[in-house]
Amino acid sequence: VAPLKVGIAGLGTVGAEVVRLIEAQQSILSARCGRGIKVVAVTARNKSKKRGIDLRGIDWMKDPLAVATHPEVDCFVELMGGAGDPALSSISAALAAGKSVVTANKALVAKHGVKLATLAEKHGGALNYEAAVAGAVPVIKTIREGLSGTSINRVYGILNGTCNYILTRMEQEGLSFAECLKDAQRLGYAEAEPSFDVDGYDTAQKLAILASLAFGTKVNESAVSVEGISTIAAEDLRAAADLGYRIKLLGVAMRTKTGIEQRVHPTMVPLTSSIAQVMGVTNAVTIDGAGIAPITLVGPGAGGAATASAVLADVADVARNVRALPFAQPVAKLKTTTKAPMERH
Ligand code: NDP
Ligand code: HSE
Repeated sequence: VAPLKVGIAGLGTVGAEVVRLIEAQQSILSARCGRGIKVVAVTARNKSKKRGIDLRGIDWMKDPLAVATHPEVDCFVELMGGAGDPALSSISAALAAGKSVVTANKALVAKHGVKLATLAEKHGGALNYEAAVAGAVPVIKTIREGLSGTSINRVYGILNGTCNYILTRMEQEGLSFAECLKDAQRLGYAEAEPSFDVDGYDTAQKLAILASLAFGTKVNESAVSVEGISTIAAEDLRAAADLGYRIKLLGVAMRTKTGIEQRVHPTMVPLTSSIAQVMGVTNAVTIDGAGIAPITLVGPGAGGAATASAVLADVADVARNVRALPFAQPVAKLKTTTKAPMERH
């Protein structure tokens, strides 16, 4: 069987690790997919940047669109980020040409996911975005495939590794917010624009994607009430601890009598609760529904290796021709939440 030919746009924290892992794990991938996976074309902004990966034998294209429409590419992997172009135009071009797309770009999926899914279905390609939510934690596949027969009432958890890393180090090491954020950036956890992390928008994008899959709602990031962690000070963490709580940035989406409520805000969780034990860059997502007693998935939520693991799972699905509906037709009503109450979980 011919190998799946992959084109990658974006060779930063995630993209470089994907190139490295495809090479390093070729025999595992071939065994699991029944065919090899080969990177044939790549691009990034700066061709001469040192990336610590071997790009010999791979075409360097002038821009993302050229990778997306490269005649040999079967699967376009978008790892640049940003809700607009060039991510949007290159993904659209790949899908319109009948190719499959894998992306880790939650900003783009939250904004244009349904439109892109429609394009994928029309032209016969797949649109896979497991890495867009909770890094290595396979939460998209769990909700979409594993729980496709379950009525879900609530999805909530820690969806941003950078914020959880900052809160953990502020509490455990007494470091300042700014120092912790700088380290999160150095380690490749933070978004190119880190205010997306600390102001809660990254969590909101991920929550809107999960809510859409869990409840059959339209993906609507603007319906999420958002409050981030940038105003949390060391004294707040100490005061919470004195009362027997720990502060976590949670995303919560649930069914209410009037529709689906979605909110993101710092939350006091009891020190004895399992979610309070989730520290560092780790994410945790709890899914509660009829007859499933809450299921919680916990694992690394950001960083090159964690995210590349999810990207490769999506590429492997394309190689094996495993198809899932990227989004269902919306069936539930979405409620716009304007206030973020502090809540105990
Ligand atoms: P980086 O900033 O490390 O890498 C971005 C890459 O995209 C760089 O190689 C950059 O080129 C390239 N790029 C940016 N703009 C363009 C452009 N206009 N044309 C061509 N190439 C471009 O980002 P990450 O790897 O951290 O993130 C990539 C995606 O993965 C984002 O959508 C992010 O939200 C998502 N993600 C990231 C996670 C993480 O832990 N880092 C986790 C989960 C998802 P150059 O290197 O030359 O500057
Ligand atoms: N910046 C994101 C985070 C990357 O810290 O969770 C993973 O989506």
